[in-house]
Amino acid sequence: MLNVALPKGRLGEKVYAMFEAAGFECPSIKEQNRKLIFENEEVGVRYFWVKPSDIAIYVERGAADIGVAGKDILLEYSPDVYELLDLDIGKCRMAVAAKSDFRDDPQRTLRVATKFSNIAKSYYTSIDRDIDIIHLNGSIEIAPILDLSDVIVDIVETGKTLKENDLEVFETIVPISARLIANKSSFKFKNEQIEKIVREISNQLEAKND
Ligand code: PRP
Repeated sequence: MLNVALPKGRLGEKVYAMFEAAGFECPSIKEQNRKLIFENEEVGVRYFWVKPSDIAIYVERGAADIGVAGKDILLEYSPDVYELLDLDIGKCRMAVAAKSDFRDDPQRTLRVATKFSNIAKSYYTSIDRDIDIIHLNGSIEIAPILDLSDVIVDIVETGKTLKENDLEVFETIVPISARLIANKSSFKFKNEQIEKIVREISNQLEAKND
C-alpha cells in the first residue's frame, strides 16, 4: 500500500486529479463526508488529507510515503525528504512587502514580521542586512500598518491581500510552487510505484506545456 499525503483544500483536489490520471484512482475520496483517510486496495493506494504545512512532517517521518508540499515549507523547514517533481501548480512567490511610503534606512536594524523566519533570515543574510525577526503565525499584513514591523516577508499569490491592506511588494525572494516529495526509505523500498507516479505525472506536465 502506498501512503499519500494530500494537502487539504483546492490545491489537494488538483493534486488528486493528477494521481487519478496517473492510474492511482480512489473513487471513495469524492464522497462528501468528513473522513480524512481513503483507500483503494485494488490499486494499492491510501490517501489522507493533511494540513498543507504538515505534509512534510508526515513524509519525513514515514507516516506517508509521498506527499505534495509547497516549496515555501520545504525552504522554511528543510525536511529530510527527496524532492521529486515541480508540479507547476500552487504557484505564488515569497516576497518582501511594506507600506508604499516605506524607505529602507540601512543605518537601522530592519524589523521583519513573518511566518517564514528561516527564509527571511537567509534572504537578509545573503544581502548582508541586519534584521530583527518578529515571528507571527498569521495576518502578517497587519504588522507594518500598526508599526510592529517595517516590512513583512510573506506569500503573495494574486496580490489582493496586500492591495487591500495598502501594502506593496518591494522584492521577490523566490518563486513558489507545489512539489512532489518522498520519504527517503520509501523511495528505496516502494521505488517501482513511486517511479511510476513520477513518470506518469511528468508526462501529464509535458503534455500540458506542449
Ligand atoms: C497567504 C498569505 C497572504 C495571502 C496572499 O495566506 O499569508 O495572506 O495568502 O494571497 P493573495 O496574494 O492572493 O492575496 P494563506 O491564505 O496561505 O493563509 P494564512 O492566513 O494561514 O497565511
